[in-house]
Amino acid sequence: MLTLNNITKKYGKITAVDNLSLKIQEGQIFGFVGPNGAGKTTTLKIIATLLKQTSGNIYINDIEVSTNVKEVRSIIGYMPDFFGVYDNLKVDEYLEFYSDLAGIQYREAKSVISDLLDLVELNSKKNEYVDSLSRGMKQRLCLARSLVHNPKLLILDEPASGMDPRARVQMKRILRELGKMGKTILISSHILPELSELCTNIGIIEKGRMVESGTVDEIMKKSISSNNVRIKVLDSTQNAVKLLQEDSTITYVYGEDNKIEFSYQGDDKDMVKIIKRLVNNDIPVVSFSPMENNLEEIFMKVTKGEE
Ligand SMILES: Nc1ncnc2c1ncn2[C@@H]1O[C@H](COP(=O)(O)OP(=O)(O)O)[C@@H](O)[C@H]1O
Ligand SMILES: [Mg+2]
Repeated sequence: MLTLNNITKKYGKITAVDNLSLKIQEGQIFGFVGPNGAGKTTTLKIIATLLKQTSGNIYINDIEVSTNVKEVRSIIGYMPDFFGVYDNLKVDEYLEFYSDLAGIQYREAKSVISDLLDLVELNSKKNEYVDSLSRGMKQRLCLARSLVHNPKLLILDEPASGMDPRARVQMKRILRELGKMGKTILISSHILPELSELCTNIGIIEKGRMVESGTVDEIMKKSISSNNVRIKVLDSTQNAVKLLQEDSTITYVYGEDNKIEFSYQGDDKDMVKIIKRLVNNDIPVVSFSPMENNLEEIFMKVTKGEE
């Protein structure tokens, strides 16, 4: 459905996207994950025809994107990471405005808008002013706006950012629904767990480069060989982190507040050695628990926790 071949984008001397390639098949929900500044927005804008790449090419099915802007725009729905303020427009008027821009006849638009408002759970708000909506509602409205012309491919730039947990759950439910409707979805986030249960495929981008990509299962398997442990200490993690970093069996350490997560290569006996060493060095360990491998840790490892 979507193919990126060696996309590079430079802003003057800054290389925002660096020789990035990716393929998304029809029906996939592809999570595009990476820390802030990694190049996600730039890549999505290029796909959405709002920005031109410095080199490389993009195909949607067999259509070359940069030379077929109009056709591409009719196939894709793009939801930007930031959207403006709209004084004196009500929710339904807002969608009418965008339907009109998309060239949809008034009568058809009415029924499309009603369906979309149901989908994004905003039907009860259709007569409210857009500016009076919560952030989560505005984001759902913006999603509805990107759907007015019934696009096949959705490009969503951090659609759940800045939302409270309830709003996130709601957004996920809607995206899952869109997946069931057969849409192909490319969705970005700087928070991996947000995407892990939603997506079929994941690509991890760092400094403009794709550092990992594959199905969610494939990416999970890659780091299954190491054991992950979470410990809690009584005070700051500084000394414990230092001690763990000196240990050659430990491949990864991350400390925050009074919690530390680390990975080690070895078996239970090695684990016992690590615990002994911590205790012998007067580290006040409160709790100790093995962890399942999850995508967040993989993400932290792959991007080396640089955020
Ligand atoms: N218009 C611009 N001019 C110059 N540099 C930019 C511009 N937009 C983005 N950048 C830079 O390109 C890099 C990638 O940014 P962006 O695509 O927004 O990343 P992300 O969406 O992953 O946070 C960053 O270093 C950012 O500062
Ligand atoms: Mg961005």
